[in-house]
Amino acid sequence: MKEISFVLNNEERSVSVEANEVLLDVLREKLGVKSPKCGCERGDCGACTVLLDGKAVRSCLVLAIEVENHRITTVEGISAEKLSALQEAFIQFNAFQCGYCAPGIILAVTELLLQHPHPSLEQIKESMAGNLCRCTGYSPIFDAIMALTKVEQHADAAENVTSQDQHPALPNVEGK
Ligand code: FES
Ligand code: FES
Repeated sequence: MKEISFVLNNEERSVSVEANEVLLDVLREKLGVKSPKCGCERGDCGACTVLLDGKAVRSCLVLAIEVENHRITTVEGISAEKLSALQEAFIQFNAFQCGYCAPGIILAVTELLLQHPHPSLEQIKESMAGNLCRCTGYSPIFDAIMALTKVEQHADAAENVTSQDQHPALPNVEGK
């Protein structure tokens, strides 16, 4: 066992982990963070996606010891006080998914918006290529993101996505 410390959703946390324990299990079983889900356990489905220093990673493929002194953000971290603008857009466009795939999709798109505040449809599709859902169509999701990031139609939201401080969809994720 090794004691590691890292920032989880803007809070300093310490936890004892085995050398071969993956981040997904530590988050869910030891730290009580349940939004990352276990789907395939081999990096294929995206249900376990979290942000590692602002970059979307599969937490089923990351050893917990690797995140020492890094920042991990989950859906709990981007919506602690209120839903993010991105989440609100999902609701507005009926783009919400089930609890299994939605957290990973939200975080994958959050990473995209950190890098590209006004993404093209192709960039949106590419950002979600590793987040699988076989139940619903992806069109409402694409519509929600496009609407959120269109300057002329959603000036406030677009302004927000350019500032980590103001936009709850863009949490305090250092490394960007
Ligand atoms: S559970 Fe990690 S990618 Fe599927
Ligand atoms: S897996 Fe979540 S809605 Fe399809």
